Amino acid sequence: MIEFKKVSKSYDKINYVLKNIDFTVKTGEFVVLVGESGCGKTTTMKLVNRLIDSSEGEVRIDGENVREVDPIILRRRIGYVIQKEGLMPHMTIGENIELVPKLLKWSKEKRKQRAMELLELLSLNADIYYDKYPHELSGGQKQRIGIARALAINPDIILMDEPFSALDPITRESIQDEILKLQKELGKTIIFVTHDMDEAIKLGEKIAFLKDGEIIQYGTPDEILKNPATDYVKQFVGDDRMWKTPSKLLVSDIMSKNYRTIEGRGNLSRAFNLLQTHDTDFLIVTQKEDGYHSEPIGLIFRKNLISGIENKNTRVREIMYTDFETLNKDNNLLEAIDKMASINARVIPVLNKENKLVGVVTNLGLVDAINGIAPTN
Ligand SMILES: Nc1ncnc2c1ncn2[C@@H]1O[C@H](COP(=O)(O)OP(=O)(O)OP(=O)(O)O)[C@@H](O)[C@H]1O
Ligand SMILES: [Mg+2]
Repeated sequence: MIEFKKVSKSYDKINYVLKNIDFTVKTGEFVVLVGESGCGKTTTMKLVNRLIDSSEGEVRIDGENVREVDPIILRRRIGYVIQKEGLMPHMTIGENIELVPKLLKWSKEKRKQRAMELLELLSLNADIYYDKYPHELSGGQKQRIGIARALAINPDIILMDEPFSALDPITRESIQDEILKLQKELGKTIIFVTHDMDEAIKLGEKIAFLKDGEIIQYGTPDEILKNPATDYVKQFVGDDRMWKTPSKLLVSDIMSKNYRTIEGRGNLSRAFNLLQTHDTDFLIVTQKEDGYHSEPIGLIFRKNLISGIENKNTRVREIMYTDFETLNKDNNLLEAIDKMASINARVIPVLNKENKLVGVVTNLGLVDAINGIAPTN
């Protein structure tokens, strides 16, 4: 666990580049620091391995103040991947990966075994790449070597400072996928810096949002997308981003609470009245009178009533549609679209975990949501 406790940093005792940084990264967690250039991301990260010391406050690793640990010992526990892959050009890939193990006086065999293992782990053929030089590798491959080097002595913490920013989008995607896989498999605690919100959302279990040396929001990507703490965060995240990630948009975000219910034993005359008074096309039929929190048992549409209205005393449960689908409020937009399309429905009641009615998704509401996905088209 890494704890930042009211950490501030000033180089001149007048201007603070970090102010009261206070957050916790749990063991095994992937936390992303985002924010615009100069907001203090790199500085925050370097406090962990003491490339920079704080002016006030403390950084603790598993309860221990890093100021009280010998930096050399500290850095053995912490892998560090810098923005440029930072490989030594005159050394082979193998030698580059083995730099720290060599400093720690690992035997040649043990070092090589570890380097070969890491190359394979990062999807590079070890027999081919071990003896190559950095200039013979692509940008993406060099970046992988940078990561391999950070993993060489199996640190439990890895710090990554904009490691993928120089890569093309496709290579970047695939290395992002690899690092996610690695973190799952190896259970490393990762602090990752980026100024790319897409990358932050994809990788981060939590995102710390920095501005002018302060954390203005710390939360899961979902929390930040849905409830940006300030207008600045909202702007940075992009107002339309929710719509660009439909799988993150939930039925509860798009459902309407504007619906009427009628109990099953209500008669058609009452149903008709409700439709007229509330200017709606459908009613959700529920077991009990106050149907808002009970289970829906059917649907009644205006057009059914027009033909059945002769007998005003007929009960709605006798003519209602019982063959209807429901959605859960935690389903995502894509699931809602799928369901709506597959059953060709106009109205889908939305239930909570207890199967109680909490809203409704209409095909019109969905069309609005879908239009929101691509506001520019
Ligand atoms: N050695 C230094 N002396 C004085 N000020 C510094 C020093 N190093 C960094 N700063 C200032 O601290 C602030 C934060 O810098 P930092 O490198 O942490 O930003 P960053 O968020 O990583 O930015 P970028 O996205 O451009 O890498 C900046 O305003 C920078 O000018
Ligand atoms: Mg930086």
